Amino acid sequence: MSTPTMVQSESFADRLKTETRPQHDAAERHELQRALLKGALPQARFVALVGQLMLVHRALASAIRGALESDPILAAMWREAYDQSPRMARDLAHFGVDPDGVTPTPATTAFIDRIGQWAGAAPASLLGPLYVLEGSTNGARYIARAARQAYPVGADDAGVTHLDPYGERQPEEWADFRARLNALDLDEATQRAIVDAARETFNAIGAIGDDVLTARAGSTLFD
Ligand code: HEM
Repeated sequence: MSTPTMVQSESFADRLKTETRPQHDAAERHELQRALLKGALPQARFVALVGQLMLVHRALASAIRGALESDPILAAMWREAYDQSPRMARDLAHFGVDPDGVTPTPATTAFIDRIGQWAGAAPASLLGPLYVLEGSTNGARYIARAARQAYPVGADDAGVTHLDPYGERQPEEWADFRARLNALDLDEATQRAIVDAARETFNAIGAIGDDVLTARAGSTLFD
């Protein structure tokens, strides 16, 4: 009689982390992220970045909300708290920017279009961008510390609330997100599509960072 061997397969949350590690490493090395972490990114570019990410969050949240009724996978994962766009809008207002007047850069427009394609063709793929944006709260806490020193933040954290939405609860919130990811019953094709969408999301955030870094004075980014 053979002894049954336990084949411990990697959890889906671990798979996402492992298979997007090169993209995360590249994101961390991006000149804009390095400047942010050092508190060396000029305020106008920081604010411009928040505006672009607000548009991305809005687009993703609305695509997911639109698919909740028909897609049980998204319904199992989604929490309204993942939509950082209301916090981002308030943070922009703190810096004197009208959130309704933000216009997308080319990279933002391209990524919002991509979100629309996923929503239409393969809604579960939206878990890829959701994973990247929600997972970014891990590093954003460190960026929040630098930003509080670098920019005129309000007493109630106004200006940077989107960088530290959970405060001390962040590790538990992330553990909960991972646990719920692991509880999903996903076939291989769907897992693959989500990992690919996560990789694309890292690349898109990098391209948006490029737009924000290279915009010149007078650009609509700084209106
Ligand atoms: C200076 C920039 C950054 C720093 C210092 C940083 C740092 C970190 C740290 C310390 C973790 C936790 C790692 C762990 O628990 O093993 C993390 C996780 C993560 N970060 Fe970043 N990060 C940065 C930029 C970004 C950006 C720009 C994005 C998204 C575009 C991002 C997305 C993620 C994701 C998705 C995770 C979750 C990984 C997982 O556990 O599956 N990070 N980051």
